[in-house]
Amino acid sequence: MNLLGIDEITFGATDLARCKKFFSDWGLQLVDEDAQRLIYESLNGCRVIVAASDTPGLPPGIEPDPTLREVVWAVENAAVLDHFRHRLQGAPGFIDTGARVGCTDPAGLALRIQVTRKRPITVACARVNTWNDRSRVDQASPAYERATPIEVGHVVFFVADLAKVTAFYIERLGFVLSDSYPGRGSFLRCAPRAGHHDLFLLQLPQPRVGLNHVAFTVRDVHEVFGGGMHMSRCGWETELGPGRHPISSAIFWYFVSPGGGLVEYYSDEDELTDAWTPREFTPGPTLFAEWAIKGGIDGSTRRQKDAEAPTGKFATDRA
Ligand SMILES: [Fe+2]
Repeated sequence: MNLLGIDEITFGATDLARCKKFFSDWGLQLVDEDAQRLIYESLNGCRVIVAASDTPGLPPGIEPDPTLREVVWAVENAAVLDHFRHRLQGAPGFIDTGARVGCTDPAGLALRIQVTRKRPITVACARVNTWNDRSRVDQASPAYERATPIEVGHVVFFVADLAKVTAFYIERLGFVLSDSYPGRGSFLRCAPRAGHHDLFLLQLPQPRVGLNHVAFTVRDVHEVFGGGMHMSRCGWETELGPGRHPISSAIFWYFVSPGGGLVEYYSDEDELTDAWTPREFTPGPTLFAEWAIKGGIDGSTRRQKDAEAPTGKFATDRA
């Protein structure tokens, strides 16, 4: 009886038109819209809703908009939903609409649970040839003109009481601690067998509460690069990336989002089981990124931003 990951998220937005351009460039499919709300889907049907701040019925934010207002977690079937219905009863802000149950987490965020609307999908992904494994044979590795994210893979929040919020997700919702910065950060996955984290909670020395980022899973590392360069060509601002996280091993690229916080393309995170022993780390720049490119890669020159543009000649050209 565990959660399957994120099924839907809702942003409270202050500039719907700018968000529409951003999330379309990001690679999500707009499936419905009206004057108040944009409804997007990723490849597997995970929903990203961008709602105007004053949309009736929107749960309160944990910080001023734009930010994430609600996270809906997925379960496999009605029996599992029932399990969580009982687990959440009595929690602050408990709601039960039949199809959805939910509450307000100790950080003040609206969380909901529903039977998943995501579709199982199979996509072609790059195989990587290593010394030991030469499984890509007679096949070139892919390059992507832009990304089409598969789903929302994780969300990250600043919280004021890390111990309390971490305990809530572990005890009420069955999350498992993957790794931690003791007293400063908890990497949590939905189930014993899962990707490294579905939820990362951070407590700053001067506590603040809010959204840090929403991360979108893409097929392989080449889609992180291709997607990022497309966003750069569209004029969106890189926060950091591409780069690699030592914790989780993922290749990442972060952009500043008009929906609030940052959004991330990532791929190649660690897959964990109950045989994994959580590690403890002390925060530091080399732990956040083994390496990273500040300002991103310019999508047109395909060079580090502000690096010299190509002259039209390649290094391999003869004089
Ligand atoms: Fe992330």
